[in-house]
Amino acid sequence: MSEILSVLEGYEFFSPIDTVEKMAGGNVNASYKITSAEGDRYVLQKINTSVFPCVPALMENVEKVTEKLRKMKEEKSLDKMRVLNIKFTKEGRSFLERGGVFYRVYDFVKNSAPVSSADDALTVYRTGKAFGIFDALMNEGELPALNVVIKDFHNTPLRIENLERSYKKAPESRKNRAKRVAEYIFSKSDEIRGIYLKTEACPNRIVHNDTKCNNVIFDRESGEALGVFDLDTVMYGRISDDFGDGVRSIAGPAREDEKDLSSVFLNMENFKAFAEGFLSETAPVVTDGERGVLAGSVFALPLELSARFLTDYLDGNTYFRVDYPEQNLDRAKCQAALARDAQKRLPEIKKWLKTQ
Ligand SMILES: Nc1ncnc2c1ncn2[C@@H]1O[C@H](COP(=O)(O)OP(=O)(O)O)[C@@H](O)[C@H]1O
Ligand SMILES: [Mg+2]
Repeated sequence: MSEILSVLEGYEFFSPIDTVEKMAGGNVNASYKITSAEGDRYVLQKINTSVFPCVPALMENVEKVTEKLRKMKEEKSLDKMRVLNIKFTKEGRSFLERGGVFYRVYDFVKNSAPVSSADDALTVYRTGKAFGIFDALMNEGELPALNVVIKDFHNTPLRIENLERSYKKAPESRKNRAKRVAEYIFSKSDEIRGIYLKTEACPNRIVHNDTKCNNVIFDRESGEALGVFDLDTVMYGRISDDFGDGVRSIAGPAREDEKDLSSVFLNMENFKAFAEGFLSETAPVVTDGERGVLAGSVFALPLELSARFLTDYLDGNTYFRVDYPEQNLDRAKCQAALARDAQKRLPEIKKWLKTQ
């Protein structure tokens, strides 16, 4: 609490601080809801620098992305749309450093209700549409230059190479437990490389890169999607990665570390609802090449996540936060089961996508 209050001294708030509450939600940064004596609300976030080591580059991107979104909102009279509003420090900076720890503050988005898992088709559709709107708006007109905050973010073949390296040098006990899922991932290497080469040939666009429903701003009363939170991973990349990762998170199991693998499958209803929402906004800009790799992304993204979780498990859990030592192994198994099921459904997925 005293740490947070000392950080807030770096900002010009209009009235004294009344309460500071830790927020549930995201799994990367630590977020706190700040309420002033006059009832004004803010969100303070402690930025996770093991995920984002270069905060100035990260926040330069967030400044540019929010500026661009605000410009598009005005140009297109999107009155309902919400755009994150950065609070600048007394020195006019978008972040603040205290003893090597980095913080930032946003206005709290009023009347927003967090959704951690989308259980109904309408919410899934709205999630797809919110990210479709984001990708469409960010790629219209003059595009901002953005920093690469995480290199090779969706380079799946490279993620598999990293797994091979970690697998070779891991302690025997962990290696044994990882063996089955590692062998499954390695067996998919060539197919993944094929998908990656086609994806890489697609236009380089500004994409969100974290297309989960808890990053969508939903209106508390109407349930409508009003915009997106979490602009940390917005970078140049491929639109199919936003599509595939969105499907992975919303049409896969509710828990990323589901242990009952017999219950892990790709929910086709959720897939269709997300895809309908996403494509309703992006269809006019998506090229034939991009359309052609959408199906492959539904298989590649869970496999990529599986490789990343397994690498972290073999490395001793240094990247993803874990509640128990085997959690990254469970996550890897779950995402591999999802990839396996998604691959089985590819003919059906391709057929359906052709009708869109
Ligand atoms: N400006 C804001 N106003 C209201 N709620 C917010 C705001 N920023 C974040 N949140 C809530 O906090 C959660 C975590 O924030 P997010 O930026 O997504 O962090 P993480 O990187 O940890 O996922 C979001 O899912 C959202 O529910
Ligand atoms: Mg988030």
